[in-house]
Amino acid sequence: MVFGNRAGRSLGFVHWINVVSVRIPPVTATGGLQKPGPSGGLHPKGALLYHRSAWTTIAVVAVSIGIRRENFVHTRARALIIFATMAITIKNSDEIEKMRVAGRLAADVLHMIRAHVQPGITTGELDRICHDYIVNVQKAIPAPLNYRGFPKSICTSVNHQVCHGIPGERMLKAGDMVNIDVTVIKDEYHGDTSKMMFVGEPSIIGRRVSQVAHKALCLGIEMVRPDIHLGDIGHAIQQYVEDNRCSVVREYCGHGIGRGFHEDPQVLHYGKPGTRERLTPGMTFTIEPMVNAGKRQVKLLKDGWTVVTKDRSLSAQWEHTLLVTGTGVEVLTQREGDGL
Ligand code: MF3
Ligand code: CO
Ligand code: CO
Repeated sequence: MVFGNRAGRSLGFVHWINVVSVRIPPVTATGGLQKPGPSGGLHPKGALLYHRSAWTTIAVVAVSIGIRRENFVHTRARALIIFATMAITIKNSDEIEKMRVAGRLAADVLHMIRAHVQPGITTGELDRICHDYIVNVQKAIPAPLNYRGFPKSICTSVNHQVCHGIPGERMLKAGDMVNIDVTVIKDEYHGDTSKMMFVGEPSIIGRRVSQVAHKALCLGIEMVRPDIHLGDIGHAIQQYVEDNRCSVVREYCGHGIGRGFHEDPQVLHYGKPGTRERLTPGMTFTIEPMVNAGKRQVKLLKDGWTVVTKDRSLSAQWEHTLLVTGTGVEVLTQREGDGL
């Protein structure tokens, strides 16, 4: 998911600022943005405080008005074009066909890995199996690998981990639940999908929070058609999740997707009907609600990636990549023989 928060600003930009500050001379005075501050990574009085040169100032102003890394040119000579904002891209039929292929491949990886999710396997082994399958069998690229410095090919988020868990030595045991999040690039286009998997029998709360997250995703998908607003979707998801005494994580959201991993728009899983962008045919984006069994607050672990619930309650997430069609929706990451 992309790193949006309530103000519409992005925690992900923290990484981006770091990139900018090392690439645009002179470098920042303190590198102070390494440490997320109270407002989600940006200094409360504005990130500009940390930056001295005019050129880095431009970079940070760009961040504050929402320009994405993908549109940023990291050289002095070309810095003037940074003010082109990213707009929602409408895919033509060729692009849609490529999105279908990428989506199907991502779905296939989740299908393939299911049988390997057993007590005793490590998340690192799951990552390696997915990596090899994507690269050698699908002849595709695992999008997370080296994305903004992410070190692995999939995300594995176990129990109270919300998202962006880094695969490693952790061994799965009976009773665990894990979100596996797969994004592949095929022919330059991305497909992004995730689902919960249980290791042995889940706890009652684990099963419940996973079901609520899944139903929330389905409700969101069913609403997708031209002319509705993204706020309608966010509202429906929030309403359902909160009616079921769970909570919606606000700091991370769904996203436009295509040639870019994270394109506009941000797809919030909460909100008000009739607000935010209006959908039109040819838009492609993800819905990927993160639902906590307890309170909605999250924190970022010291590894800089793994997001966990602050109260250590269980968290679940399901994700699909969607196309807005002339009359409704096409789920580009639908798995064979699976519900949504
Ligand atoms: N797949 C995630 C999403 O749904 C993003 C993972 S970014 C990574 O948007 F760097 F953590 F891999
Ligand atoms: Co996503
Ligand atoms: Co994903």
